Amino acid sequence: MREKERFGSRTAVIFAMAGSAIGLGNIWRFPYMVGEHGGAVFVISYIVATLLVSLPVFIAEVTLGRRSRTSAFGAMSKMDPAHHKVWRWAGLLSIVIPMIILCYYSVIGGWSLFYLFKACAFDFVGTLPEASESLFGNFISSTWTPIWTHLVFLAACAWIVARGVKSGIERFSKLTIPALFVLIVLMMVYSLSLPGAGQGVRYLWRPDASALNVKTFVYAMGQSFFSLSLGMGAIVTYGSYVKGDENLVVSSAGTAVFDLLFALLAGMAIMPAVFAAGIQPGAGPGLIFQGVPFIFSSLGVQLPVLSSIIAILFFLAIVVAAMTSVISLIEVGVAFLGERFGLSRPKAAALTFLVCGSVGVLCSLSFGPLSGVKVVGKTIFDLLLLVMAFLVVIFVGFVMKKEDVRDEITNGGRKTLNDKLFGIIYFLIKWVAPICVLSIFITNFIL
Ligand code: TRP
Repeated sequence: MREKERFGSRTAVIFAMAGSAIGLGNIWRFPYMVGEHGGAVFVISYIVATLLVSLPVFIAEVTLGRRSRTSAFGAMSKMDPAHHKVWRWAGLLSIVIPMIILCYYSVIGGWSLFYLFKACAFDFVGTLPEASESLFGNFISSTWTPIWTHLVFLAACAWIVARGVKSGIERFSKLTIPALFVLIVLMMVYSLSLPGAGQGVRYLWRPDASALNVKTFVYAMGQSFFSLSLGMGAIVTYGSYVKGDENLVVSSAGTAVFDLLFALLAGMAIMPAVFAAGIQPGAGPGLIFQGVPFIFSSLGVQLPVLSSIIAILFFLAIVVAAMTSVISLIEVGVAFLGERFGLSRPKAAALTFLVCGSVGVLCSLSFGPLSGVKVVGKTIFDLLLLVMAFLVVIFVGFVMKKEDVRDEITNGGRKTLNDKLFGIIYFLIKWVAPICVLSIFITNFIL
């Protein structure tokens, strides 16, 4: 078997994982979920869910990946002393689900690419809201443009993956993640300076008791899982590239905090602008594509150059954020193909591109104006993520030997701080996370 590559440093680990985590989920999905599910109450539930449930699940996935040093497919069956069949199926699911998501995600990545081109052509200057709505509708329901933007987008990501863990994924993430933070902060400053922005800030931060219901928590948790790329084998796969002496708790917490921060910054960049433009915050998945161009256009009449530059930076941020996530999805497939069938990275990346690219073309064609847009956001995917994540925590909590888990999380007891923390983390993984995930799952069916 080929020698497995490793990430070079802690920064590299955090940036690569944050790259997977930070994506359309933060910029595109988070704002409309906040809008649809009652503003601040959702935001607070999301923060609580991330720290209490998602972070322990994240640590469990990294632990599983590093301990097994295999792709997501083999991780559980390799670590199960009894070699029970169930874990093979679970492994298979953790390859199949991300590949399905990849097809859709890349189509939406293609949309952002299209908008980036539009912004570069100064096309948003002076557009009216109706025009930006029909631009979006016409674009996604047209045949060829979304297909080629999707294919170009996916090919670029596959190319980076083909170059390798260190010289492809690590290098790209180290370059882009800091830049993304700079871009989103710039956007936020701009957005907060718009007249009427205060309303958006209040919407994000002032809890509205009437929005408080169990469903809010269910959605917040789904969003949190999606945002941290959990339940899809991506973090397990990246975990297998983490060096043996790396502190898993610090890297995981670092990633979770970056992801959380980025979602909040993106919310602060988008919501005030949405309110300033008088758009309904609950407009759904089309929110940023329909709303954002108008935001730039209203300013564009007075300051066409400035507004176009900001529009370019904004869509560039979306494209890059989506790319680092797609890269980690492709890596799930590439790691699997390399391990099971001995394919080289370039061949595996090309094959993933061909299969997911073609299915993605069908997805792209299935988008009548808005009708299918919900697919990525559909709760069915969130539910699948929850099932997978549930299996992982049950696996790490009950099937793997406690001593092995301790050994992995504390690096053989060498990290004393982790040793003290271990009891808490283990409890969260073994009891709190599965119970929360299960109750959310059941609640979702009852309500
Ligand atoms: N976390 C990504 C985002 O916020 C989306 C995502 C969900 C993902 N699951 C994934 C990305 C698995 C890569 C792998 O946009």
